[in-house]
Amino acid sequence: MSETTQQQAGRLIIVSNRLPVVLERKDGALSTRPGSGGLVTALAPVLRDRGGIWVGWSGLPDSEQGEIDDALKGSSTSAGYELRAVPLTMQELDEYYHGFANEILWPLFHDLQSHCHFDPSYWEAYRGVNRKFAEHIHTAAAEKDFIWIHDYHLLTTATELRDMGVANSLGFFLHIPFPPPDIFFKLPWRFQILSAMLAFDLIGFQTMRDKRNFVQCVRMLLSEIAVRSEGGFHILKSGEREVRAGVFPISIDYAEFEQRAQDKEVAESAWYIHEALPDRQIVLGIDRLDYTKGIPYRLEAFRNALRRHPEMLEKITLVQVVVPSRVDIPKYNDLKIEIEQLVGEINGEFTRSGWVPIHYIFRHLTRGELLGYYRTAEIALITPIKDGMNLVAKEYVACNLESNGVLILSEFAGAVAQLHRDALLVNPYDIEGMSDALYTAFTMTYAERRRRMHRLRATVRRYDIYRWVESFLDAAVSRHLYDFPVISEYIPPSDSPDIGVSI
Ligand code: F6P
Repeated sequence: MSETTQQQAGRLIIVSNRLPVVLERKDGALSTRPGSGGLVTALAPVLRDRGGIWVGWSGLPDSEQGEIDDALKGSSTSAGYELRAVPLTMQELDEYYHGFANEILWPLFHDLQSHCHFDPSYWEAYRGVNRKFAEHIHTAAAEKDFIWIHDYHLLTTATELRDMGVANSLGFFLHIPFPPPDIFFKLPWRFQILSAMLAFDLIGFQTMRDKRNFVQCVRMLLSEIAVRSEGGFHILKSGEREVRAGVFPISIDYAEFEQRAQDKEVAESAWYIHEALPDRQIVLGIDRLDYTKGIPYRLEAFRNALRRHPEMLEKITLVQVVVPSRVDIPKYNDLKIEIEQLVGEINGEFTRSGWVPIHYIFRHLTRGELLGYYRTAEIALITPIKDGMNLVAKEYVACNLESNGVLILSEFAGAVAQLHRDALLVNPYDIEGMSDALYTAFTMTYAERRRRMHRLRATVRRYDIYRWVESFLDAAVSRHLYDFPVISEYIPPSDSPDIGVSI
């Protein structure tokens, strides 16, 4: 953080749906273990140096608050900053988290309005839980503290805080995409959500596309708000209040991934993977179980490539890892069944003695296994139908120590804005296009792979998670927009030869 930022700042209060620790009950007793993820790695040193608090849900509904607080005390001491749990009942969890957040906002913000379940009771619960978060923040915060709230679960927390008289500077970062007006306007609570967001002082988006969508929604729905652009921000003025919207593409702890990928354990795991799958290129897909990840289209594309390019038979293996997630929501379970059926069909069609085309893994990988797959895969196939950023793409690049990998990336992942020059880009709905990209990757020379991967690695190394945290906090305090020269809006090429029509 810059010196100005440090001098002006009070403590940092981070707020997210989940706390960065996992609480587990074993034989009746509660214990905690650190959560994983780049966000906590990057924020922990700032929270420790500056003093801070992380507010979030414990992950255990209907638990006794005193017991949770006791369990968190030890973690707070070892983390070097305080963890405060917001208790949620099972009903709140169902209606706020499973319901409003994950059956309305999640599909809608990923352009999948047909997956939405607009149940009015979800809205009441969402408002109620956001108010509850605000009460906990209000109790925790002192006058000069900077409060940084994260993600779509907490879009209305700022307005609740303002109603309680909280005048602190409030930042917000949206980890998922923001949809275009035609889609956002389908939300029955569009007006309340958009107006509530204007109670923040700084709103960060992953890409220019998301910021533009948000600003267009404000312009169209809240016409009394004056909008201007200045220093890389859009500034939305409502009466005396000014809200700034900026772009801050999230990233990973590049150095940590690169270093861990060199561990003996990872090198061994990589060696074993290739030993078990000799003389072939490994294509890696790793996703949470989620319909936004485009897994069925990807499997179709792999099948299409095997049908059209027989020279790939026995020379390529797709390792598709699906990490269990949100399994209490029916759509997620339907997706699991669809994936497993497709894997079965494709393996049934192509398997030869000694070669199974798709290795399907449905579980959490250990860190060593994950890095082993990153290190060993010659091709990463990352094809979400829409994604806020997609950190798997960046993690793969950081772990590709030999620079021999090819990144195939969806045009609709936020990461495309930074990586589009050197990844092979695909439209995840275009089965043949993805199949062609797989073939291009399969036949790409080592020199070409190396040239592309070097540049990808340089970009991810330069714009890592630490730079992301620093840029957001600097922007919050000094009003200065950090320089992210590699963010440009990715626009699909207009000269595509396969359009086939003249206009
Ligand atoms: O991408 C949004 C996100 O909330 C991430 O922050 C998180 O890792 C993932 O979705 C899964 O979240 P959860 O299991 O809490 O629903």
